[in-house]
Amino acid sequence: MNVLTAIKTRASAAALGEPGPTPEQLEAILGAGICAPDHGRLSPWRFVVLTGADRKILADAWAEMRLRVSPETSKADAEKEGQKAMRAPTIVVVAARVNVPHKVPAIERVVAVGAAVQNMFLAAHALGVGAMWKTGEAAYDDKVKVALGLAATDQIVAFLYLGTTLSKGKPREDKLSDYIIKA
Ligand SMILES: Cc1cc2nc3c(=O)[nH]c(=O)nc-3n(C[C@H](O)[C@H](O)[C@H](O)COP(=O)(O)O)c2cc1C
Repeated sequence: MNVLTAIKTRASAAALGEPGPTPEQLEAILGAGICAPDHGRLSPWRFVVLTGADRKILADAWAEMRLRVSPETSKADAEKEGQKAMRAPTIVVVAARVNVPHKVPAIERVVAVGAAVQNMFLAAHALGVGAMWKTGEAAYDDKVKVALGLAATDQIVAFLYLGTTLSKGKPREDKLSDYIIKA
């Protein structure tokens, strides 16, 4: 698929199901991520791939966060929230490692990882793999990060959910002229 066609036709899936990406597709998607532009070539991206039963690591950490942060929540509701980790066969947690001392500011490393996520999203689309980019409170919780094997200082940029599109989202139809500001 031509890159402009991929950009124009990409949309978040509204619902994802089995099967998830094959190992070859997953490697191509992660490989697209590490081709993103990155100031200083610091390669700030880190990936945690959760498939099958491993998704429970995120589900459990998410539920634990809810009970800790909002103690009025019932255990059942917290577990239900954690089950969002099961809404796709594969989750790639994409994080920026920003604690390495360097003159390139942390924000530029986070932006580079955002570019990596978009590369991954487009690669998934070109391969016929459905995707959703989510974050939310769990992405900013230190204990969730540590449960996933990340450092508390890492910045989670995306929970990239991957699978078979069950329900399609709409491609964007924004008017370019709405965003052009004349100097
Ligand atoms: C950094 C980032 C975080 C996001 N987090 C969420 C989220 O937590 N929940 C959600 O519903 N959408 C989230 N989105 C938005 C969707 O993934 C999606 O991009 C948006 O709804 C636009 O739809 P589209 O991808 O089809 O253009 C996030 C997008 C970005 C770029």
